Amino acid sequence: MAAKKDIFSGSVKISQAKGLRGEISVPGDKSISHRSVMLGSIADGVTEVTGFLEGEDNLSTIGAFRSMGISIDAPGHGKVVIHGKGMDGLREPEDIIDAGNSGTTTRLLTGILSAQPFFSVITGDSSLRKRPMKRVVEPLIKMGARISGRKGGSLLPLAITGARLKGVYYKTPVASAQLKSALLLAGIYADGETAIEEPERSRDHTERMLKLFGAYVKTKGNSVIVNSTKRLNGCKIKIPGDISSAAFFVAGALITSGSELLIKDVGVNPTRTGVINILKKMGGSIEILNEREASGEPVADILVKSSRLKGVEVNWQELLSAIDEFPIICVAAAFAEGTTRITGAGELRVKESDRIAVMSGSLSSIGVKNKEEKEGITIEGLGTIEAEGGEVESHGDHRIAMSMAMAGLKCRKGVSISGAASVDVSFPGFFKTLSGVTVL
Ligand code: S3P
Repeated sequence: MAAKKDIFSGSVKISQAKGLRGEISVPGDKSISHRSVMLGSIADGVTEVTGFLEGEDNLSTIGAFRSMGISIDAPGHGKVVIHGKGMDGLREPEDIIDAGNSGTTTRLLTGILSAQPFFSVITGDSSLRKRPMKRVVEPLIKMGARISGRKGGSLLPLAITGARLKGVYYKTPVASAQLKSALLLAGIYADGETAIEEPERSRDHTERMLKLFGAYVKTKGNSVIVNSTKRLNGCKIKIPGDISSAAFFVAGALITSGSELLIKDVGVNPTRTGVINILKKMGGSIEILNEREASGEPVADILVKSSRLKGVEVNWQELLSAIDEFPIICVAAAFAEGTTRITGAGELRVKESDRIAVMSGSLSSIGVKNKEEKEGITIEGLGTIEAEGGEVESHGDHRIAMSMAMAGLKCRKGVSISGAASVDVSFPGFFKTLSGVTVL
C-alpha cells in the first residue's frame, strides 16, 4: 500500500515508489456525465447512461433535477436512468438548489433555469460562492433572462425568475465551455437562433450531446449556432473514462522510473487532449491505442512508460484543451530536466482554488523551486535530483490533492496531503486505484 489514510486528520500519505505498473480504468467523464443528466431530464422519454461518474459534483446535478420533479434512478456502478419529462417538464424547486462545489452544475443550470416559467435560487459551497458568475449572467440577461445575485449578479447565490428568451449573437470574452454551454442550453429554449463565438475553441461535449438528442447544432471554427428546439429525444449514452482523471496516472507513470501502465477506455476528444500533447512535448512516452467512438465521443486506451521529461514552454492555446490539468502538468514539470514556463493561464486563478498560487505553494513545500506569475508559473525542474517531500493541503481542491499525491511517488520522504477526501468530487476510489498499481 502506497497510500495510508489517517481518518482523524483526513490526511493521506503517499510514499516514494518505483513506478506504476498494470492496467486500470478511471471513472466516467465529469463534463459528459453532467450533460447526460441535464439533457436527459429535458428530453422526451428515457435516457439510459452507463459509465456515469458518481462523484460529488455529478450527484449535485442529479439532486438539482430531482428537486425539479425528474425521476432519476442511480443504482450504482455508473448506471443512471433518467425519466425525461420533455423541454417543458421541469417544475419549480421548493427549496434552494445546492450545487456544492460544482461550477459546471451552476453555470449550465443557470442557462436552463433562465428559460423556465418559475422562480429558482442556486448556490454552492464556500469555494463556488467565490467563483465568477457574471460571465454567464451578463449574456443571459441580453437574451432576456431575469437574474439577480450578490455583487450585481457576479456571485452566488443567484435568484432566477424564468422569462421568455430570445436568441442572440454573442462573442464571449473568454473561451469557456461552461459559458458556451449555458448559452447553448438557454438557446434551445429561446426564440430564433443563438450564435456564440469564442476567442478559442473550448471543449465541445454539449454540441456533440445535443446532436445525439436530435437537436440542430451547427459549428464552424470557433462559432456554434443552435435554434429554438421543440423536442429532444431520450437516448442511450456510454460515457468514456475522464481524461482529466487519467492524466494523474499518465504523469505519475512518466515521472517514476519503473512504470508501464495501460489506462483503458479514456475519452480522447481533441478539445480535451492538450495534456497528452504537452506531456509528449516534454518527452513523454504515451501511445494512444485502439481508437474508436462511443455516443459521439472519441475513445481510446492509453499506454504510458517511464520517461525522462524535459522542461518546456506552454502557452494558453496549448493549455486550453488541458485547462483542468494545470496542477498535474506542474508536477510533471517539477520532475523534468530544466525549466518549464506556463503563460497566459489567468483562468486558473478562478477554478476550485486559485490553482496558480496553490501549486506554487505546494511545490515549494516539497522542495521544488518555482516562481508564481500573474498569469502562470515558472518551475525549475529537479531532473535527476531527488525531491524532499513534506506536507501539503488540498485547499478543498480535488485536482490539487491528486496532483500532489503523484508528486509523493517521487519524493524521498513522500507527501502527506490534508483534506484528501476532496478527491471524491471527481474521482471516488482514487487512492485505491493508485495503491493497486504502485510498485514500492
Ligand atoms: C467544464 C469546463 C471547464 C473546466 C471544468 C469543466 C465543463 O471550465 O475547467 O472543469 O464541463 O464545461 P470553464 O468553462 O470555466 O473553462
